[in-house]
Amino acid sequence: MYFNKGMYICLCHAISERDIRLEVASGVRTFATLQEKTGCSDCCGCCETDAHICLQRALKGDEEGTLLNFATTT
Ligand code: FES
Repeated sequence: MYFNKGMYICLCHAISERDIRLEVASGVRTFATLQEKTGCSDCCGCCETDAHICLQRALKGDEEGTLLNFATTT
C-alpha cells in the first residue's frame, strides 16, 4: 500500500511535511516541542530552516502550503 508522506524535511530522522502537519494537529505549537517529539533538526541540522518554515505553515493551517508551493509562490 502506497502511503504519501509528502516531501521529506529531515532526512536524518525521516520526518516529512506530513509528519510535521500531523504533529501540529496533535498539539505541537513550538519548534522545541517538535524537536522533542520527533528529533527533527537535532542531528546534522541541515533541515532546520525548512523545518521552521514547514512548522509555521502548518500552524497557520495552510494545507496547500507545502514547501514546494512555498518555494514557487514566494
Ligand atoms: S536532515 Fe534533519 S537533522 Fe539532519
